[in-house]
Amino acid sequence: MRRLGRTNRTRRKKRTNKPVIDCSEEIVSLSKWMKRESKSHGFKWRSMLYPANFLDTGRGMMTRETLRPGDVIVSIPQHLLITLETVLSSNIGDLIKRQKLKLSSQQLLSLFLLSERNKGDNSYWHPYIDTLPKSHTTVGYFSARELTLFPPKLRKAAESRISDIKQAYCEVKEFHSGETIQYEDFLWAWFCVNSRSVFYRSARSEFVREDGNHLALAPYLDLLNHSTEAQVEAGFNEKTGSYEIRTHNNYRKYSQVFISYGSHDNGHLLVEYGFTLPDNPNDALTVDYDVVMEAAKSLNVSYTEKKQDVIQTNNLHRKLACTVEGLSWNLLMIIQILAMDWTELQNWKNVLKGSVISPRNERLSRNIARVFLAQYLHQNQELVNKFPPFSSRTRMENLIFSIVQTERDILHLTWTSVT
Ligand SMILES: C[S@@+](CC[C@H](N)C(=O)[O-])C[C@H]1O[C@@H](n2cnc3c(N)ncnc32)[C@H](O)[C@@H]1O
Repeated sequence: MRRLGRTNRTRRKKRTNKPVIDCSEEIVSLSKWMKRESKSHGFKWRSMLYPANFLDTGRGMMTRETLRPGDVIVSIPQHLLITLETVLSSNIGDLIKRQKLKLSSQQLLSLFLLSERNKGDNSYWHPYIDTLPKSHTTVGYFSARELTLFPPKLRKAAESRISDIKQAYCEVKEFHSGETIQYEDFLWAWFCVNSRSVFYRSARSEFVREDGNHLALAPYLDLLNHSTEAQVEAGFNEKTGSYEIRTHNNYRKYSQVFISYGSHDNGHLLVEYGFTLPDNPNDALTVDYDVVMEAAKSLNVSYTEKKQDVIQTNNLHRKLACTVEGLSWNLLMIIQILAMDWTELQNWKNVLKGSVISPRNERLSRNIARVFLAQYLHQNQELVNKFPPFSSRTRMENLIFSIVQTERDILHLTWTSVT
């Protein structure tokens, strides 16, 4: 084999994405605790997944065995789950009951985490709490200036989310008599629950607000990262008395094992989980119906009232978007309808067959698309201009930039498809 020079060797080293087993004190303590506490309840704890650090995702789970579809990848005994029963039977549960509060499951789990964190080594859950991130890169952590870098729709969604969290905080901040919970602490706990909890249906209680969220925390299991390709089945197995995750994917020995947090685009992943994925297939740029109509009117298309009537009656004005594949189906239908002459409009349903209406229609509909795409590209460029140069960007700015960049790529690809 050819001998490599030092530069080449370094490059080769950097390119390999070998996981490094996480031997930190916290992870070792967590594993020992899981083993000990499982044994004390008659469970045999043996995990084929190991916490490890990966170049692209940070800490996650590595398998030490080959995995096949149908394999159970992780199994957590019930008494090691933090459920609403756990919370309500704890000391803060007593306080909640005494004050006759009715809180959401996310508020309850957040209060529990805070209370157990305050106990330090004296908490039963200490080995778990110690492995939780110290901070997050989710929505409540962005400064007001950083929020101005968000694309407008995502910014609106983010601001609405922040106001929901503030509301949830205001409801509980004084609940410890004589001791106010700090917003930063609540935010930390809220996002630990938000990004790490599993679906788990606890028994109904007069102290729990029914909001459709049935949550529990599952130590160890919550070290699994998200991938859009992961297919899993998760839930409590009454027979084994454990919360289990079964994969439907194949994994090679020593590779990272993933679960799916849902079919989320990068905007949602950033706001709720604090990360983005390269090439997320769920990414799309939503297009406003009004913007399309304005584009058509600026090109003096005729019979706009009649055309709007056709579009809206047939619900074609919904789900307007661009993706890396180009214009969404509804958007394609709309621009062709808007480009129709009177004769074509009488048989507008021809558009549903997917064939070209006429060369003139094709030209005009592409022009309409170019007008609104140019407007979105201009808005996108204005956002790009607000970012500092790459070398001086913060981690948060880089995360937001990846979203702005994806929108830009989508717009460019769509532009190419209509020229
Ligand atoms: C349930 S935890 C997964 C374990 C986490 N990485 C840890 O070390 O504790 C969810 C968090 O992991 C991170 N995460 C999950 N999937 C990721 C991915 N594919 N790439 C980068 N970070 C990811 C995000 O910070 C997310 O909020």
